[in-house]
Amino acid sequence: MNYELIDSGDQKRFERFGDYKIIRPCSIAIWKPKLKKEIWADFDFSFSRSDQNLWTLKKKKPKNFIVKLSDHQFKLLLSDFGHVGIFPEHELLWSWMENKIKNENLKNLKILNLFGYTGACSIALAKTNSFVCHVDASKPMTLWAKENAKLNNVKEDKIRWIVDDVMKFLHREVKRNNTYDAIVLDPPTFGRGPKNEIFKIESDLIELLFLCKKLLKKDFKFLTLSCHTPGYTSQVLTNLLLQVFGNKKIVTDEILIKSKNSFPLPMGSFARIEND
Ligand SMILES: C[S@@+](CC[C@H](N)C(=O)[O-])C[C@H]1O[C@@H](n2cnc3c(N)ncnc32)[C@H](O)[C@@H]1O
Repeated sequence: MNYELIDSGDQKRFERFGDYKIIRPCSIAIWKPKLKKEIWADFDFSFSRSDQNLWTLKKKKPKNFIVKLSDHQFKLLLSDFGHVGIFPEHELLWSWMENKIKNENLKNLKILNLFGYTGACSIALAKTNSFVCHVDASKPMTLWAKENAKLNNVKEDKIRWIVDDVMKFLHREVKRNNTYDAIVLDPPTFGRGPKNEIFKIESDLIELLFLCKKLLKKDFKFLTLSCHTPGYTSQVLTNLLLQVFGNKKIVTDEILIKSKNSFPLPMGSFARIEND
């Protein structure tokens, strides 16, 4: 096993990424840890935001390290903001998409991945024989995502890499009459495009979804919306999808990271249109 939520509590989460045991802040974990202090003390790296953003290192800080999730490998690192370059909770979302594509023998789907970050979802989808258009505002993130694609032997023509503001890109795609079989999006609460374009989830998400609707083929296969913004529950996401897409089959839930030792850790919500 290459990723594991070891425990959570006291507003922290204790995870294992490959060979490394890492403690990071987690504001919602307001319960007490289940495992003993000695087990928590056996960490390799711990991040704290209390005084300044700081990693406590018990081992030499690796420049980067490789971790396997499902059948995919990702280059991770200890960033200055306490991120490692993957959201392990998204694994269940890619798995559903991978299974749907495989089980229904869907070939050469054209899939749009918005706010694609370090490429995990794009890579999982590209490996199903789909063609992915990966959009993210950050050039460094996109370079990192490309490295991850190489690490997974994804052929170059499988992913089209776009460094752009999501809203601008969507408007352009609508003008070009481009269409997709599926769309995946994980919008941040607040983000900036490459030219400092502001994205605010509370005012921009609904317009973004209307643009997505214009880009989806009539017989599209799915749209997966995930969200980590506090208070944006399953019902909030469902209301949005119902308003924009009308009466469709919507599957929605909390996004949980399960742990064999501890409570499941809620990391946000998702709502998915399954257009069978
Ligand atoms: C919440 S993360 C997305 C997590 C990712 N989807 C995953 O599965 O791991 C936010 C990403 O959105 C990008 N971003 C923020 N604002 C943006 C914008 N206006 N246009 C395009 N990308 C943006 C950031 O560069 C960052 O990579």
